[in-house]
Amino acid sequence: TSFSYFFQPLMPFQSIAHRGASTYAPENTIASFEKAVDLGFDYIELDVRFSKDGHLVVIHDADVQRTTDGEGFIGDLTVDEIKKLDAGSWFSPEFAGEKVPLLNEVLDRFTGKVGLLIEMKAPENQPGMTEVLAEMLMSYKKDGQLVKNIKVQSFHVNEMKKFHKLAPDIPAGILLSKQLDMFHLASYRQFASFLSVHHLLLSKSFIKQAELFGYDIYSWTIKKQYQFADMQRLGVHGIISDEEKRLPDSRLYA
Ligand code: G3P
Ligand code: CA
Repeated sequence: TSFSYFFQPLMPFQSIAHRGASTYAPENTIASFEKAVDLGFDYIELDVRFSKDGHLVVIHDADVQRTTDGEGFIGDLTVDEIKKLDAGSWFSPEFAGEKVPLLNEVLDRFTGKVGLLIEMKAPENQPGMTEVLAEMLMSYKKDGQLVKNIKVQSFHVNEMKKFHKLAPDIPAGILLSKQLDMFHLASYRQFASFLSVHHLLLSKSFIKQAELFGYDIYSWTIKKQYQFADMQRLGVHGIISDEEKRLPDSRLYA
């Protein structure tokens, strides 16, 4: 009935800022990550790729055209070349001079302040990237301590399997843009502890099934208020969103 629908308990969820607070500041920059912290997000989601000289660079696209004033593929550019680019002006003059961050800069600045959900972009086409990321995260320490609240995800299942072997202490997740059957749910669970699922694929029954295997479920990418409520009713554990974290909802029903 509409009565029971209305009074279903809504669970609290992890709020995850997609490419940082990318509605308010240029995606995947220090500015968008700072804004996400200011807005009170629990995690920032960011994308990493491999530069020509083997560094992990925080950028979504394979090339720099859309989000900087330069041209070319990340894999053809050195860090020195990438650092000359302006990654803020395309978004607004207010952000002129914003740089493409390196992953280690983001780790230094944000670990301990906010969780990091790192997406490996196309690791299957960038040999060595998975190994470098695993090594970096397994050895990364602040004040002599290993850092918490870092997770890694990718659409590429075999690279995540490899990542888990190399970095068993870092929670690994699979990004899904299609449904997963029971067989794959069981087999991915050997290396993945969460699934990040396109929101249109989610149903209560899928989430219940995935929970039986012990997965956490994150949904992407949420942009509207009513979608937050829908996702919360479905019972997802995390919401990757472009918008504010909708704190009143998650607090009200926590
Ligand atoms: O975390 C999910 C989402 O980031 C996947 O899509 O294209 O924004 O990396 P995309
Ligand atoms: Ca992403």
